[in-house]
Amino acid sequence: MQKVVCPGSFDPVTNGHIDVFKRASDLCDEVVVAVLVNHTKAGLFTIEERVELIKESCQHLPKVSVETFDGLLVNFCRDRGVTAIVKGLRAVSDFDYELKGLRAVSDFDYELQMSQMNYHLGPVETLFVATNPLYSFLSSSLVREVARHGGDISTSVPKPVVKALKAKYQK
Ligand code: PNS
Repeated sequence: MQKVVCPGSFDPVTNGHIDVFKRASDLCDEVVVAVLVNHTKAGLFTIEERVELIKESCQHLPKVSVETFDGLLVNFCRDRGVTAIVKGLRAVSDFDYELKGLRAVSDFDYELQMSQMNYHLGPVETLFVATNPLYSFLSSSLVREVARHGGDISTSVPKPVVKALKAKYQK
């Protein structure tokens, strides 16, 4: 029984994430989406809201379940009998407007470093899914940015997230 984990902040979940969950569930028996409880960064959505939005957005994916985790991912993997971490890998770089200004951060360098550390600590393998080009420009931070300014994010995130973002920014 291959049980894999798709970890992340998911603030909020995007169509790019959902594509990775779907492709992981086509390959594995069980996919646990693990939402990081980050004590140092509040984020836009609460952890409970993120979990609920992922659950609502994954109703068509019966092998997918959603949990939260705190601390090291390798400990979560060990405790749950997870055999591998599955992550999407975008083309070249990502921009985190809120945290790093306009500095480009290479997705590959960051992911490679984390996967090597997780193998060193676990060992736990990391499998990368090449992001669908349809979604390669997407990131949660960009989606928040566009939604905050009233831009159209209806093709970037699942319907429940469109609704939740509208509600957040209309307040
Ligand atoms: O969506 P994100 O923020 O890019 O996800 C990053 C995440 C949650 C996968 C990563 O920060 C993580 O695994 N954090 C848990 C703490 C941990 O295990 N750190 C060591 C990783 S090498």
